[in-house]
Amino acid sequence: MNQTMGVFPSLKDKVAVVTGAGSGIGRATAELLASNGASLFLMSRDEEKLSETQRICEGYGVDCTYRSTDVTDAEAIRQSFAECLEHFGRVDILCNVAGGSTGRKSVFEMTESDFDAVYELNLKNVFLCCKEVLPGMKERGGGSIVNVSSLIGRAAGDNTNVAYSSLKAGIDQFSRYLSRELGDFGIRVNSVSPGYIEASQRITDLWNQTQDMDRVFNRLSIKRPGTAMEVANAIVFLAAEESSYITGEVLDINGGAIMA
Ligand SMILES: NC(=O)c1ccc[n+]([C@@H]2O[C@H](COP(=O)([O-])OP(=O)(O)OC[C@H]3O[C@@H](n4cnc5c(N)ncnc54)[C@H](OP(=O)(O)O)[C@@H]3O)[C@@H](O)[C@H]2O)c1
Repeated sequence: MNQTMGVFPSLKDKVAVVTGAGSGIGRATAELLASNGASLFLMSRDEEKLSETQRICEGYGVDCTYRSTDVTDAEAIRQSFAECLEHFGRVDILCNVAGGSTGRKSVFEMTESDFDAVYELNLKNVFLCCKEVLPGMKERGGGSIVNVSSLIGRAAGDNTNVAYSSLKAGIDQFSRYLSRELGDFGIRVNSVSPGYIEASQRITDLWNQTQDMDRVFNRLSIKRPGTAMEVANAIVFLAAEESSYITGEVLDINGGAIMA
């Protein structure tokens, strides 16, 4: 389908960090920020994928650099933000996209360490990345943070697990709480909550293991999966000053899977 890419003039010369930038929604977010003139610092683990995202972003003529970072490793996060600040001097926008489900697992099979791993990847990393950018944003009197949660944080499902579902729900409340705490400093915090997004082969394989996806899509108002760029358009809108009066919001991007 046609990849409509939003235009947000306020992004020109802003500095943005995108985690999970090696593929899927993170890569689309990085590309859209770059196409609007933002400079970028990218993080995820796989160097080759990061380098491909960098190549795409540099195609828009912006400064884009990356560092391979495991966002479940607090020290690695600290080092990456130190490198980012040394290079760019500030961070105006943080898009916390890295995350993911470990797939279907019943509560009977799930161990304490399974739960901790999902927590570290999907919620703790968001807290740690925010901690790195907030002092600078507070000092400069502004900034925008967008976190990525999930439809499955608001509805029960059959293809994932209780840890992923509850921790993604936690991201939405994290965004709401932080938005209130940081409003006085001009810092906005929002979430986007994607539904079924055909973002990468990994995701499609995960779905097909457990569900008849045609049946799933037929139950949506828009009877198809979403694209990574459709989610990126929402992330980047919330990151940009074009959404300056929106904070503590959770924006569903799910083709009408749930409406409330
Ligand atoms: N696709 C969907 O249907 C859907 C629905 C709801 C929510 N989401 C959320 O959307 C976000 C992006 O997912 P996606 O759909 O774009 O899938 P994806 O293509 O698998 O992207 C996940 C990204 O996170 C990175 N990542 C994973 N573990 C990491 C770690 N420990 N440290 C650093 N980076 C890590 C991956 O790169 P490396 O493996 O190279 O590190 C990759 O760039 C996730 O938070 C996911 O939970 C997706």
